[in-house]
Amino acid sequence: MSSEAARRVGIAPSILTADLGRLADAVAAAEAGGADVMHIDVMDGQFVPQISFGPLIVEAVREAVSLPIEVHMMVADPLEQLEPLAEAGAGRLIFHLEATNEPQREIARARELSCEVGIAISPLTPVSALEPWLPQLDEVTVMLVYPGRGGQELIPELLDKVRELRAALDALGSDAVIEVDGGVKAHNARECAEAGASLLVAGSAVYNPNETPQAALAALRTALEEPFG
Ligand code: DX5
Ligand code: ZN
Repeated sequence: MSSEAARRVGIAPSILTADLGRLADAVAAAEAGGADVMHIDVMDGQFVPQISFGPLIVEAVREAVSLPIEVHMMVADPLEQLEPLAEAGAGRLIFHLEATNEPQREIARARELSCEVGIAISPLTPVSALEPWLPQLDEVTVMLVYPGRGGQELIPELLDKVRELRAALDALGSDAVIEVDGGVKAHNARECAEAGASLLVAGSAVYNPNETPQAALAALRTALEEPFG
């Protein structure tokens, strides 16, 4: 088995397609099913057209589970949002590189708030744009779809960015988490891990009308652990 395949790959359910009328049950089911991190997609209606969640939902999730919480901030002004999200219980704050002119300010503020820091890049942003910041990051999210909604198909060509990022982080000796977000399913989870991802966001793969979150998580885990051949 290659070293990439041997790396423990985590699963981060995104609640975007969960039954929000039963949010506490939905996140408890993910925790019971072995999720590693809860991924909360904050959308402000400006950086992306949709409006989704804010700090109150982060707080509700924090009260329902003991898993770590990461917040994917699809917001036009991340600097303003860091503090309320940290206070609501986010352990990791992930802002978009495209939303800031001076990432150093967001990085420093998130650190002051004692949070882990990640940067997300949208499909059109190259890995090279991240390079100045890589040594300071705990995590990078590579979007495999255009951000803004759940249930889209993964764009396979974007996995090349994951390979490039893995090489860049290895060259730095960084153990930052590489997360992939968008269109991850049991049938492509292994490919994401092989490309170098260490955390897979799974939205509609976990929260869908056809199976329980526990069954869906078990299928993802099996897909990741199956030996080759
Ligand atoms: C999309 C969000 C994702 C989304 C993933 O902009 O960032 O986290 O919830 O959903 P799926 O896994 O269904 O593509
Ligand atoms: Zn997300």
